Amino acid sequence: MVFKNHTKQKMKQSKLLKIIPLILALLLGCKINKPFIGYSIQKTAFSEKAMVVSAHPLATQVGLDILRKGGNAIDAAIAVQLALAVTYPRAGNIGGGGFLVYRSAKGETATLDFREKAPAAAHRDLYLDEKGNVLLEKSQKGHLAAGIPGTIAGCVQMYEKYSKLKDFKRLVQPAIDLATNGFEITDREAKSLNNNQADFAKYSTISPVFVQKGGEMWQKGAILIQKELANTLTLVRDKGRAGFYEGETADKIVAEMQRGGGIITKTDLQKYQATWRKPLTGKYRGYDLVGMPPPSSGGIALFQLLGMVESYPLGSYGFHSKAATHLIIEAERRVYADRAEHLGDPDFYPVPTDKLLNANYLQKRMSDFDPNKATPSQAVKAGNFKNAPASEQTTHFSIIDAEGNAVAVTTTLNDNYGCRTVVGGAGFLLNNEMDDFSAKPGVPNMYGAIGGEANAIQAGKTMLSSMTPTIVTKNGKLFMVVGTPGGTTIITSVFQVITNVIDFNMSISEAVQAKRFHSQWLPDKVFIEKDCLENGTNMTLKTMGHHIEERGNLGAVEAILVRGDGKLEGAADIRGDDDARGF
Ligand code: DON
Repeated sequence: MVFKNHTKQKMKQSKLLKIIPLILALLLGCKINKPFIGYSIQKTAFSEKAMVVSAHPLATQVGLDILRKGGNAIDAAIAVQLALAVTYPRAGNIGGGGFLVYRSAKGETATLDFREKAPAAAHRDLYLDEKGNVLLEKSQKGHLAAGIPGTIAGCVQMYEKYSKLKDFKRLVQPAIDLATNGFEITDREAKSLNNNQADFAKYSTISPVFVQKGGEMWQKGAILIQKELANTLTLVRDKGRAGFYEGETADKIVAEMQRGGGIITKTDLQKYQATWRKPLTGKYRGYDLVGMPPPSSGGIALFQLLGMVESYPLGSYGFHSKAATHLIIEAERRVYADRAEHLGDPDFYPVPTDKLLNANYLQKRMSDFDPNKATPSQAVKAGNFKNAPASEQTTHFSIIDAEGNAVAVTTTLNDNYGCRTVVGGAGFLLNNEMDDFSAKPGVPNMYGAIGGEANAIQAGKTMLSSMTPTIVTKNGKLFMVVGTPGGTTIITSVFQVITNVIDFNMSISEAVQAKRFHSQWLPDKVFIEKDCLENGTNMTLKTMGHHIEERGNLGAVEAILVRGDGKLEGAADIRGDDDARGF
């Protein structure tokens, strides 16, 4: 009895001893990062110098290790991207693509487009049957849905231009180790793998590691070892770009295509290059933004949204108030109508970027805004530029290194686990990014997005994206790094996080964890997360003519904010296993 009490007392004391430094650290605003143990997940992290926020704690830790060893944000980004390909197979990838938005400590900015491209054999009617109906399964599942992967080219090109470590092998090795030794899968991952078992089996020609033998189910804590993926990553480590786009891996991709009716060829792979694009820049209430230009619609759409609401006192309307929510929905309606008509790969279609971002144009777009009534989407058309010269799974990570270089990368296979096809013998999933093209004008893709000529399928063209990796600065100083998955909802989620901080004075953690809503012109609906709006607001918006529909989570934001005192605050979304840590 006495012994028990004594033990209890000791435990209380030791608990107290553990908590005191934590409270002190919090009060002093300094780092509270615990040493990394297993899967402890950190949703908010404070640090003095450097920070990584990603969708998986092991990937976050890999990035942090590279930063500690003297790597810069780009070195860490490459290591995190590859670690996610192992630990977060639904979206982390080497068989997909993405976008990098970069800002150096000195203020130099760059954006890299390493998104997938349509194979040479692709054509406008690739997904139509003989009657002209869209064959959605073909654009979404299996071999024909895959675009030419861009991730490894992206990693190599960002390495060549900006790496500080200058040791590519060191950046790839952590991913190889994770694939070789395995890691414990989380509950979410186990459930998600189970939900997709049948698809993996159906759309892969050789049974992949994700399919359990004998119909067993994945359980939380099971160790996922990926030997074939480790081998592919070893080829990439030793041969760089050629380890993926040539030789053994290229042979395996093409063999997989031939077995499953896909169209990616060796020439497609050899020819693939990622593209450095001129960063898109914008302004909002005294802040400067760097965003991704087309072939993402993300930068343009985000800047349009900000431009449309800027002349309204959003902050004084109140967070999720009727007035603020209505204004944002109405702006979204107009922006997504423009997206459907005007946005596509600028190498194939003359995207009228300047016209879409012109301040007068944006004001004119809002001239029929009625503060008391919803505009039916059918009545909203895209802006008319006839005279213009001819001209739910993705993942995002945000990184700031000790020098102040910042990286925002959003990367994807498109849907969860892409087209569900694992390249036989090579152990990685292929994307189903071809569904982001407009298979037929007016026919919605898996995100309900429609499009036309600007985003029609063409050989070698990149499909339109909504990915919105974004960097915000104030008075020339880094302020925020932000991004999220979520298909077409990406743009509105990033918009809400930015306005939550700038207009509604939230901390970055509050801004990321706050409930979100989304509307995209067509379908004429406003999707809200559970408990997003108070009942009264909800009812009022319905009376005004908005069609409100509750749905699951919107996005999984990873953001870092540089506070006034120069310290970093990282926020990983509570909607997933996402994790933030720094030093
Ligand atoms: O590029 C795009 O816009 C889409 N392929 C992104 C897909 C996505 O975010 C799915 N995540 N939930």
